[in-house]
Amino acid sequence: MSEGYDLVIADGVVQLPGGETVAGWLGVTDGRVVAVGEGAVPRADVVIDASGGQVLPGAIDTHVHFRDPGDTDKEDFTSGSLAAAFGGVTTVVDMPNTGHVVVTPDDFREKCAYLEHRSWVDFGLHANFNDSSGFVDELAELGVASLKWLMGYADWKGYQYQPSSYAETRATFMAAAHASVGVMVHAEALPWLLDFRDRLRAQGRTDVGVHADSRPPFVEAIAVAEAAIVAVEFGCRLHIVHLTGDVPLRTAIALRDALGADLTVETCPQYLFLSDEDVLAQGVSIQANPPIRSLHDQAALWDGIAAGTIFSVASDHAPHLPEDKQAENPLDALSGIVGVETMLPLMVDAAASGRLSLARVVELLCAHPARLVRLDDRKGSLVPGHDADIVIVDLQGRTHVSGEALHSKQHTTPFEGRELRGAIRHVLLRGRPLISAGRLVAREPFGRHAPSLYPRSRSSIARHEAIA
Ligand code: DOR
Ligand code: ZN
Repeated sequence: MSEGYDLVIADGVVQLPGGETVAGWLGVTDGRVVAVGEGAVPRADVVIDASGGQVLPGAIDTHVHFRDPGDTDKEDFTSGSLAAAFGGVTTVVDMPNTGHVVVTPDDFREKCAYLEHRSWVDFGLHANFNDSSGFVDELAELGVASLKWLMGYADWKGYQYQPSSYAETRATFMAAAHASVGVMVHAEALPWLLDFRDRLRAQGRTDVGVHADSRPPFVEAIAVAEAAIVAVEFGCRLHIVHLTGDVPLRTAIALRDALGADLTVETCPQYLFLSDEDVLAQGVSIQANPPIRSLHDQAALWDGIAAGTIFSVASDHAPHLPEDKQAENPLDALSGIVGVETMLPLMVDAAASGRLSLARVVELLCAHPARLVRLDDRKGSLVPGHDADIVIVDLQGRTHVSGEALHSKQHTTPFEGRELRGAIRHVLLRGRPLISAGRLVAREPFGRHAPSLYPRSRSSIARHEAIA
């Protein structure tokens, strides 16, 4: 056995779970964290000088749309994952609404094989909720991250996103509960959305505010409530993605507490750092579903972060072509914005500005997402045995946000021109440098599938099984 470590990160402040920090070094061997310590830096084949830097776990973005295969003119996995790497995101979990929707175990296997050698960061995959009841056990064995229920979409490029019947919805929830697979829900109630859209269109509205008016907060809250109630009924764990504001958050927490729902809430940087005033100023290019809301909603999300009712932050990176956004009526423009590369820098800036602690950033972007998608035995914390997925951030540095400089195929960002406190210096994936001194140093993508790990003993929901 050789003496010393493969790699040591020296003279940094290592962020450990629970807000603990160690001013010292972190040793890596075979791609894993082996030890963290103070004092003399131990021997190693490679030493990375982190002096003055914060050593964080790589962020885990549980919500990206990398469009590959299917819509690779907008983004492909290589471009999206390179943007992730530059943004300090070392694991992404891809949503299933690409041209090639992941529904069956074969879809899942094919996509994993397809992504080999295409991703700069490790990746997991969500599968589609709809029509998946018969596949859930096998998908769990393959390591599916969750079943994604797009409540607010009728179809996507002809693919039907609404479950074909209530019986199918029930069967899928039961199967998910049985396999301990969580359901992630895009909470917007479709019948209300369609009604608002048609009425506002008939009124002749084409101003930029019409999109948000067609998808108001209470419509999000209704879907939150329905999903929470159904999840409790069938004993399923539920995660509400990209929650936008006050009423939906209060609804989620009220139902969690009143019914004992096993429910967590995610929000995104666009809801924390932007408001409807930015939408008015920037227009359809920053339109997203659900919409970016008022400053009151934004404040409610920050309160939720302080109170712990927001569990995690993800980017909902959803690139579209400029022409997809150029409709005469915002109701006809596609929604979605790029964000995987700016998420951690924005949150680090918020920490540097005293809005939250760096430890809380690590919780929201690393530790909690790892728990959410069952990667927490390997990722999300810098503890011995875990993958050495590491980001070194210099809080004295500055990051200038420029769409042109982003590594996504799309170069429009709602944060254009912002000067952020803090700069990402180094990014490592399983102990191998991806980014050094702000430059890509890896020769080729070596990201691999990070399967979610489920317990072997399955929960049982006998009452519903009896009537199935
Ligand atoms: O704005 C959005 N864009 N919201 C979604 O739920 C989907 C996403 C996309 O894939 O474009
Ligand atoms: Zn999304």
